[in-house]
Amino acid sequence: MSRQIKIFDTTLRDGEQTPGVNLNIHEKLEIARQLAKMGVDVIEAGFAIASPGDFEAVKAVAENIKGVTVASLCRAVEKDIDRAWEAVKSAERPRIHTFIATSDIHMKYKLKMSEQEVLDRAVAMVKYAKNYCEDVEFSAEDASRTRVEFLYRIVEEVIKAGATVVNIPDTVGYSTPIEFGKLIKGIRDNVSNIDKVDISVHCHNDLGLAVANSLAAMENGATQLECTINGLGERAGNAAMEEIIMGINTRKDFYGVQHKIETTQIYRASKLVSSLTGVDIQRNKAIVGANAFAHESGIHQHGVLSEKSTYEIMTPESVGLPTNRMVLGKLSGRHAFEDRLKELGYTLSQEEINTAFEKFKSLADKKKVVLDGDIEALVKEKVSEVPEIFELDSFQISSGNKVISTAMVSLKRNGELITEAATGDGPVDAALNAMERAAGFNMELEAYSLKAVTEGKDALGEVTVRVSKDNKNFVGRGVSTDVIEASVKAYLNAINRAISELGEIIISS
Ligand code: KIV
Ligand code: ZN
Repeated sequence: MSRQIKIFDTTLRDGEQTPGVNLNIHEKLEIARQLAKMGVDVIEAGFAIASPGDFEAVKAVAENIKGVTVASLCRAVEKDIDRAWEAVKSAERPRIHTFIATSDIHMKYKLKMSEQEVLDRAVAMVKYAKNYCEDVEFSAEDASRTRVEFLYRIVEEVIKAGATVVNIPDTVGYSTPIEFGKLIKGIRDNVSNIDKVDISVHCHNDLGLAVANSLAAMENGATQLECTINGLGERAGNAAMEEIIMGINTRKDFYGVQHKIETTQIYRASKLVSSLTGVDIQRNKAIVGANAFAHESGIHQHGVLSEKSTYEIMTPESVGLPTNRMVLGKLSGRHAFEDRLKELGYTLSQEEINTAFEKFKSLADKKKVVLDGDIEALVKEKVSEVPEIFELDSFQISSGNKVISTAMVSLKRNGELITEAATGDGPVDAALNAMERAAGFNMELEAYSLKAVTEGKDALGEVTVRVSKDNKNFVGRGVSTDVIEASVKAYLNAINRAISELGEIIISS
């Protein structure tokens, strides 16, 4: 029987450490639900001690998501471990994941500790965590730059102390596949009790080698791979789960291992994470990029038309790429709509279906053909569950190449209508300025992106904005066939999110 590989997803922890990403508890739960549906073995739901928000999110995932192990990261410090346990203890399968750096450079400059002190702390904290939880993962941070004899020793000692998983991170993405593979083999050959535990790897992508290093480690005996959806994570990110999984599947002749991931859920997970984090997927990204299954040149198109395998090493269906077929029109009824939602993998409450159906009807009035992608964009709007502190009532824009753009926006708050006007550098800028005045709330616009959800002149436009306020980032999304309306909705979504999270209204002067 072939070897079983465990997939440890850290989108909600290392992925959330992506600069500019800030997910709220509803969004984390939605992503966790999708990860569980895909069949990941472990969800690292956060770093419980990092903030009250992180703690609540880990706890919510532990309480609500079944059939997976739920882990919280913690430093090798008692109070961190206490907090991690408090957050994960109600999970069906809780795990405490504790770490300490082991490389000379980290021990000298960051920890200011000797090898012996680090070893003693690691052993003591694994034992401490073990008092709470049977499943304890230990990570030797910066393992790939650690003196190898020390790495063998600390791994051996934490296993004696009760660790069930030892993680070997390439924290700064410095290793290369052959070297990293050898490191894992060295651990297997030199740590006497290594057979008692899972060997995990956690690779960062600073040199673009995170997936290659993870696969090399797996070939050399690693049994757990840590990764994120779309390769999100600190700096250049972590190993991308979709690439690891499709690598294993497409080259099963070579790797010969098994995993539990349902690959047809990959595309949906990727879209969900991208839309909730506001981090776009580059068009030519492997597996989930818009061009991953597109064939441009005549020779390639001809080849694929006569035999797909000429240029396609995996099928778009295998990763769950929607066929983007025409679904429904303005005469379609509720049943057909509900059926299509189910086929697309959405399980919504009756109330959510009602809202989505209303949105669909008004879209079908404007757009001749409603595609799967349009429906997904409409449904995704419900995920954020941002309280509608301000609602959009109406807006009016005057713009042109020889006039100063002016916008008038009316927002509603508790039934009261607030109307403000402003000018700006173009219609979008004018509308956002007017909205800030109406809401009495100023923010910095850090990033703005507009993309067409489907094709054609009447395509839905999806706007994502990233704003900052008080050193925190917030993402807002809006979709509409009118790009100004999509921009207004996205900005309002970000305003509502910022106000509800910061809990204050700042009246602008
Ligand atoms: O990159 C890293 O070393 C980590 C550990 C804390 C697991 O994220
Ligand atoms: Zn990491």
